Amino acid sequence: MSIAICPGSFDPITKGHLDIIGRASTIFDKVIVAVAHNMEKKPLFTPQERIEFIEDALKDKNNIEIDSFTGLLVDYARKKNANAIIRGLRAVSDFEFEIQMALMNRRLHGDIVTAFMAANEKYAYLNSRIIKEIAQLNGDVSNFVTPLVEENLKKKFMNK
Ligand code: PNS
Repeated sequence: MSIAICPGSFDPITKGHLDIIGRASTIFDKVIVAVAHNMEKKPLFTPQERIEFIEDALKDKNNIEIDSFTGLLVDYARKKNANAIIRGLRAVSDFEFEIQMALMNRRLHGDIVTAFMAANEKYAYLNSRIIKEIAQLNGDVSNFVTPLVEENLKKKFMNK
């Protein structure tokens, strides 16, 4: 069985992420969306909240599992018997960071392949940071995130 991991902070998940995950699920038998507990970044949403948003967005897909991980991605990938790590590429600016991670991950665990997927051009300019900024400034993010994420962004910023 071919297994791919779509790792990320997903703080919060966007339609750009969902597009990549959806396409990965047509190529691999199983896709694991893995939410990183990333200590370096200060996330807006807890890992549990981020997982709930992803579960809600992907409730109709049956070959997608949602999980979270701490520690090294390659260790998690090995534990899950994954064949590939999938990362979306939006623009050339993503490439430097992504190739650094892919090469380091290969150095750490030679069996795991990183595959890049071109982002849908509709979402090529999207990222979670921009979405949070727009939402914080009362902008409309409904085209870029699910209704549940939109609602929770509003709640979060109302309480700040
Ligand atoms: O959505 P992001 O923030 O771009 O995702 C980055 C992520 C979570 C994939 C990356 O930070 C990661 O793999 N973190 C786990 C720790 C790790 O393995 N670090 C070494 C990477 S070479």
